[in-house]
This record gives sequence, C-alpha cells and structure tokens, in this order.
Amino acid sequence: MADPIHGDRPMVFEETTGKKAYCMCGHSEKLPYCDGAHSRNQTGVQPRVCEIEKDGKVAICQCHQSANLPFCDGTHSTLR
Ligand code: FES
Repeated sequence: MADPIHGDRPMVFEETTGKKAYCMCGHSEKLPYCDGAHSRNQTGVQPRVCEIEKDGKVAICQCHQSANLPFCDGTHSTLR
C-alpha cells in the first residue's frame, strides 16, 4: 500500500477533446493521466474521469486539494 504523491503546482498543457482519466494518486508513469498505478500500488485513490469538451489549455491539479478537481483552482498556492 502506497500513500498518494502530491505535487506543488498544476500541470498546464494543451488538451484535446474527449473523455480523460486524470491521475489523482501521483504514481502514474503517464501523468497527468491514469495508468492504473492507483490500483497496483493500493493507494485507495481513484482517478478523476471527465469529458473535455473542446481542445485548449488546461491546468490539471497535482496537489489534489482543488475544490474543482481535476482542474486547478489555485489552492496549491495556499498550502505552504
Ligand atoms: S495544483 Fe493548483 S489547486 Fe492543486
């Protein structure tokens, strides 16, 4: 069993339209996407699955404290 790994800032990148599963345990080797590591490592955390409705820039939360997961809402800047 492994604890989740939390980053200190979002991953910002150009995303494409479609259904996505974003890693919330931090163990994925394909961040920000889930690769099943939450299950293999028994983190007790599930990925966030959502539909991206159009191509464009996204900021995916890596601190996992956002009130708007999987998207960054700026909460990471208050965690220091
Ligand atoms: S990374 Fe910004 S709120 Fe989590």
